[in-house]
Amino acid sequence: MKKLVFATNNAHKLSEIRAIIGARVEVLSLADIGCTDDIPETADTLDGNARQKARYIFNKYGLDCFADDTGLEVRALNGQPGVHTARYAYPDRNDTEANTAKLLAEMKKKSDRHARFRTVIALIEKGEEHLFEGIVEGEIAPEKRGERGFGYDPVFIPEGTGQTFAELGVEVKNTISHRARAVRKLADYLNA
Ligand code: IMP
Repeated sequence: MKKLVFATNNAHKLSEIRAIIGARVEVLSLADIGCTDDIPETADTLDGNARQKARYIFNKYGLDCFADDTGLEVRALNGQPGVHTARYAYPDRNDTEANTAKLLAEMKKKSDRHARFRTVIALIEKGEEHLFEGIVEGEIAPEKRGERGFGYDPVFIPEGTGQTFAELGVEVKNTISHRARAVRKLADYLNA
């Protein structure tokens, strides 16, 4: 069976990706290959970070692999937080409460509330690089709503739903989300 390393140890992402990619490809985590390195993620774009992480694994282990990077791009904030989404409130850590509070404060007086989540996946297969992108358009809610999901889910309303990702829940989210869309493109490519 074809094997691919996914440069993550995030259990949620692994199960989501395994479910979409199906049985024809075995997806290994960093733990599965014994990698405990803190993989650098220092590029200034989502594409750059995804490529940097995948290249690191390929260069060190010589294995086919992929990596992802996600950002929330808010139009009224000139595309911010973008590549800084995880560390929007504090440059040295990912604090979900502080991140969403900062976003709601920045958006307080903005009438244009359009935003999108964008995921980029970089695949390195036999040394060659391929990029896959998934986007979900939507808007920033005026306040937090819903209990489910993670990260910015309580403040992001995907287009056409009227509910935040945190209200919609993971099953609906996984049919329309940025990451699911990028993963489906990767799966289509691998299973073609
Ligand atoms: P990562 O590149 O997947 O680690 O995502 C970077 C940051 O974006 C995360 O730490 C979250 O704050 C946020 N994020 C990514 N995907 C989602 C999502 O599906 N819902 C809410 N927030 C997300």
